[in-house]
Amino acid sequence: MIKKIALLEGDGIGPEVTAQAVKVLKTLADKFGHEFHFEKALIGAAAIDVMGSALPKETIDLCMQSDAVFFGAVGDPKYDNDPNAKVRPEQGILGIRKSLQLFANIRPVITYETLHHLSPLKSKQLEGVDIVILRELTGGIYFGKKQTSADGHSASDECSYNRMEIERIAKLAFAHAQQRKNKLTLVDKANVLDTSRLWRKVVQEMAVNFTDVTVDYMFVDNAAMQLIINPSQFDVILTENMFGDIISDEASVLSGSLGMLPSASIGDTAALFEPIHGSYPQAAGKDIANPTGSILSAAMMLDYFELHKEAASIREAVEWAIKNNYVTKDIDSVNFYSTTQMGDIICDYISGNISNARTTRDELQKPTII
Ligand code: IPM
Ligand code: MG
Repeated sequence: MIKKIALLEGDGIGPEVTAQAVKVLKTLADKFGHEFHFEKALIGAAAIDVMGSALPKETIDLCMQSDAVFFGAVGDPKYDNDPNAKVRPEQGILGIRKSLQLFANIRPVITYETLHHLSPLKSKQLEGVDIVILRELTGGIYFGKKQTSADGHSASDECSYNRMEIERIAKLAFAHAQQRKNKLTLVDKANVLDTSRLWRKVVQEMAVNFTDVTVDYMFVDNAAMQLIINPSQFDVILTENMFGDIISDEASVLSGSLGMLPSASIGDTAALFEPIHGSYPQAAGKDIANPTGSILSAAMMLDYFELHKEAASIREAVEWAIKNNYVTKDIDSVNFYSTTQMGDIICDYISGNISNARTTRDELQKPTII
């Protein structure tokens, strides 16, 4: 299979983590006889510095001409505390979601037994946690009318949804539930918001056509609590843009590290793959970031290309690495591997060169008390 992939590394640790995923994809291409052609373009603060815009037209054009977009992260602290900044790195990712109409953000949350101790939750609560969050990504308060009064003393952000926007992602969520444990939870705030009442109405109507799926409805404040006290009750969570942003960060705590989680953003004609973590500027250039979220995003991209065997081999390699304590500093601050080594180990496993990886681990093993 030949695929053209737009590579948007972005800011902070973006270039480092995507480099590992690209390495893994190249290893798979060699093993399975595929050709993946990567073409880079600027986005985020990196693009602002060079072109004055977080999302240059060249970048959108490249994405539109590619089979998929592989994305790192955007964000730079120099813009975070400046409410008057006219251009912001985040405009890059928001703009690309809108231009490519990537309306569904899919965020799987799984836990690894060997990482249970990293979560603030008790190991028992984490057993059997396997959730997928479907977050609406191109509507709601993120893209509604924004206004700040001339005197700067008041501001508003409008939240609006229409039936079509809800139906297209709900359809995908029902399909996911049918492939999984046949359970769908709509998370909303229907006791307060008109938009949430519309979501509930549309999903209730659609549920009649998916009788094999059990649908329940949960207010977002309760869902935030339930995710912590009883996370294994969830299978597929469907929610709007802003609620999805918040509860997906919350859910990432279940997996032990934000660095572990991948995501896919899907539209009718385009798709983008990115880890859920941000640009983590404090770690940039240090070769310490966890590339697993990016590598697992590559697996989601392969599934999108219908290369399921190849995707499964990435997941198997990641599971093997974690089980055998091949981990980065966020997971084990004493015995850890660098970002690059972590990528190498996964590639070694995929190409059947495991014993080489094992030796590296032994060399690195340090006593915890010196
Ligand atoms: C995410 C991020 C983005 C969002 C930011 C970077 C604009 O938090 O992908 O979850 O809010 O959607
Ligand atoms: Mg977020």
